[in-house]
Amino acid sequence: MIAAFRKRTRRSLNVNVFCHAAARQDPPRESRWLERLWPEFARFGATAPAALREIYRSFVLDDDMLALFVSEKPKVVSFHFGVPPRERVQALLDAGIVLLGSATSVAEGRALVSAGVHAVVAQGYEAGGHRGVFDPDADDDRLGTLALTRLLVCELPCPVVAAGGIMDGAGIAAALRLGASAAQLGTAFVACDESQADAGYRAALQSDAANHTVMTRAISGRPARSLSNLFTRLGRDVPDAELPDYPIAYDAGKALHAAARAKGEFGFGAQWAGQGAPLTRSMPAAELVATLGRELGEA
Ligand SMILES: Cc1cc2nc3c(=O)[nH]c(=O)nc-3n(C[C@H](O)[C@H](O)[C@H](O)COP(=O)(O)O)c2cc1C
Repeated sequence: MIAAFRKRTRRSLNVNVFCHAAARQDPPRESRWLERLWPEFARFGATAPAALREIYRSFVLDDDMLALFVSEKPKVVSFHFGVPPRERVQALLDAGIVLLGSATSVAEGRALVSAGVHAVVAQGYEAGGHRGVFDPDADDDRLGTLALTRLLVCELPCPVVAAGGIMDGAGIAAALRLGASAAQLGTAFVACDESQADAGYRAALQSDAANHTVMTRAISGRPARSLSNLFTRLGRDVPDAELPDYPIAYDAGKALHAAARAKGEFGFGAQWAGQGAPLTRSMPAAELVATLGRELGEA
């Protein structure tokens, strides 16, 4: 991906890595989860996988990935779900790479700064996609973007990037007024021409469904904000303790989505979206960036 990117542009590249604690394999729990999903697979004439795998290796354990970054030197590496051990962070710093990390609380922001990151992304509870919490089983104050951004701006000695529920230039202007140095938008780009979102996800985002987002753990094993859909409804009453660890649960989630999609049902997709999703617009990404710049100027 780095090579493909560099063939197309010489501009700065930000590589983003997941820094979760290694998943704990728990075959009995995984079997019970698969059994619970059997009827859903059966509805689409499919069978559930016999066992589940840890489909992503955390960056905190991936020596090859670290070596690749040190040699390829992307301009920026950003962390989600945690902060790597000190020697790994140091290796990236020694390679001259700018480091960012997501925080959902002041404690996580402080941990990122003391590890040596240059800037912290304040990811509010409104944000679409996976919540960057370091420990998904710890208490979560669920701070919104406004409060979290302001807290981190006041508490941390580094630039803060506001993320969560920001969909247009007026939202970016509000984040900057809070003292953020920049804003990070995710959902706003999902409906862009270049995005890999499938037809069902796009249609949902452009319908009344965009008004309803929920935090769910059932799709991947970690809390993430998605459009309310068949999967989030299935997961609504499942206690956290019954779900396999991230990303083992995601193996099942992706298999179920594939089985359903093969029969034309898109409602089991990971339809990540932040609050404010009804404000998303469908256009080429470059045009959206230009539009956001114009709106920011007007605001
Ligand atoms: C479809 C989608 C995928 C995302 N994937 C990642 C990811 O791989 N890594 C990451 O750090 N954040 C990811 N995020 C979260 C964003 O970095 C950001 O925190 C969030 O999109 C901000 O909230 P918003 O969606 O309301 O703009 C994702 C968000 C969405 C909507």
